[in-house]
Amino acid sequence: MKLVIIFLLCHMLYCVDVDKNTFSNYKDVKTQHLHIEWLLNLNDKVIDGSVEYTFKVYASQLTEVHLDIYKMNILFVYYPNNGQVLKHHVESDPIQKEEQGEKLVIELGQVYKYGEIVKFRIKYQIGEDARALSFMDPSQTDDKKAPYLFSQCEANNCRSMIPLQDTPSIKFTYSATVITQSPLINVFMSGNRLQTQKFQLMNNYNMNSIANVFQFELNIKIPAYLIAIVAGTVEERSTGTRTAVISETKNIEKYQKELEDLDKYVKYLEDYIGEYKWGSYKIVILPASFPFGGMENPLLTFANPTIIVGDKSGVSVAVHEIAHSWFGNTVTCNNWSNMWINEGFCVFLERKGLKTLFGDINLVHVNSQVGNNEMNALIKEFNSSQDDFIKSYASLHPKTENHNADDSFSTIPYERGFQLLYYLEKQINETRFQQLLKDWLQEYEYKSADENDFYRFMIFWLKINLSSEEFLSVKKSIDNVYNKWVYDYGQPPIEEKFENPASKDVIDLVQSWIDGKGTKPQNYQIFDDFKSNQKQLFLSTLQDKNQVVTDAIMVSLEDAYHLSDLTDAELLFRWYTLSINTKYAKDTTNLQKIRKFVGLVGRMKMVNPIYKALDKETATQWYQENYAFYHPLTRQSIENIIKNKTIIK
Ligand code: BES
Ligand code: ZN
Repeated sequence: MKLVIIFLLCHMLYCVDVDKNTFSNYKDVKTQHLHIEWLLNLNDKVIDGSVEYTFKVYASQLTEVHLDIYKMNILFVYYPNNGQVLKHHVESDPIQKEEQGEKLVIELGQVYKYGEIVKFRIKYQIGEDARALSFMDPSQTDDKKAPYLFSQCEANNCRSMIPLQDTPSIKFTYSATVITQSPLINVFMSGNRLQTQKFQLMNNYNMNSIANVFQFELNIKIPAYLIAIVAGTVEERSTGTRTAVISETKNIEKYQKELEDLDKYVKYLEDYIGEYKWGSYKIVILPASFPFGGMENPLLTFANPTIIVGDKSGVSVAVHEIAHSWFGNTVTCNNWSNMWINEGFCVFLERKGLKTLFGDINLVHVNSQVGNNEMNALIKEFNSSQDDFIKSYASLHPKTENHNADDSFSTIPYERGFQLLYYLEKQINETRFQQLLKDWLQEYEYKSADENDFYRFMIFWLKINLSSEEFLSVKKSIDNVYNKWVYDYGQPPIEEKFENPASKDVIDLVQSWIDGKGTKPQNYQIFDDFKSNQKQLFLSTLQDKNQVVTDAIMVSLEDAYHLSDLTDAELLFRWYTLSINTKYAKDTTNLQKIRKFVGLVGRMKMVNPIYKALDKETATQWYQENYAFYHPLTRQSIENIIKNKTIIK
């Protein structure tokens, strides 16, 4: 009995929040500050890096620091005050998937005690193997004048560009010096760019080959995955008092116009959740090979040009990334099995912002419905797998140990997480839930948390804020569903369909098309008046029913709406995937359009479904054609898709 209690206590206090995707000894020693110095050699695709670390000791005695690294060349480690070189070696574990990287062990040469500060520096070099980084040739850029570099660190890619404690449970401040060798190159990082040089250089450089020295500082604590850099012929254009757009020159005016309301979006979210504390907010529109729609790097969201549609329909991605300023960047998940603590909460806040933006809650429900369709299809797919890991991806607590955390990435933490919060909100009403979320933010500000922290916080909050009678009944409803919602691999315990008038028209139109068997429904033209998200719902519902979508229907749909020639990539990728799945895309012209699309867009959400639908031979051929264009992360995911295909589909 005693043992059981000790085990449970240990489970509660220590084991539960262990991050299984880091090799670092982050419980014994914690990063407080990083100072990075990078010399960019973009022509040769090499970076000379130095980092000065400030750690605080939490163990009673500490003799080693363990850091995460991935395919990098560690040159040496030394104490900055006396130049003493520290011994280091690299350990790899054959059980771990290769993408997890390796453990860099640094021997401190002395014993440090609890509370002491450890400072050392590492000199290292990285190149094209750094999977966080995309090094692009001038020919791959819009302006064609100079090379381009951008990073993508979430989830565990920062370890490929900086040796560090690569876990979202460790937060620190950072500063950086970035040295460029061409006057054309402009640099931005996820922090404030300093007007004057503040930090001394850690190394000596040949001053003749140096063009510029950029310095950055972020005094708010962040996890490693939020460090970001972009370097290229990029410039900044203001979109308001505290917001701006950054991109290459060619399309900057178009981007500036599309994002002219950024200030307003920040304000909508502030009105719901409280002050935006990061200062300025800028969006970089990156080259089309950026593997995501958006990435919430603090002060400096990165976005794919597919979010610029021309009718502002893609700006919901910007609203989502702004929402991360609170959920994700202020309160952060403490390991990647709890990603919904970032994404589920973020989607919830995003949709509060969209309500103001759309002016019609029904249109927000349309987004939730598209999300719900995609979530349900994925839960079915994951849950029917024989593999225990894949099965767990249907829950809000996917297994990640020994694997690359990105393997578990899907829309599940977004939509299943959102739906849980939506359910909880309904138990106590919108106003009270809004207050609960504000208090959650305040309690966990600049900290990391998991589902147990949220549960404990919520119950405590309810106990204080509800009458004892109401508290007991609400707690009972929550206890009936919470664990199932988080840990079960099946559908969430309460089904929410988000049906509404704006989606009824869409679903009815899909049904008319299917019933018509190739004849256009009488009211087929209402499609043209649908908003982009209603059109997405139209296509995702057809995808759901693809077994009964015949060739005649596809031909007629194309004739009615010219879907293969749309410019909104959110619609195109859905239509193209459906075209392959229903075998409509066998004719050469249509297939060639899809082939062109996967060579122009590298956003994983949009190309992965297409590669999944293709047969192995075509997928392999198209992948090879576009290898140079794709980002290292997109390459990795397409390679996985192709590997899992049988030869004949
Ligand atoms: N943080 C994510 C992107 C991400 C997730 C990168 C996991 C690496 C690992 C970002 O906020 C995001 O969710 N982007 C979405 C857009 C959003 C509107 C759902 C995307 O890229 O499509
Ligand atoms: Zn997100």
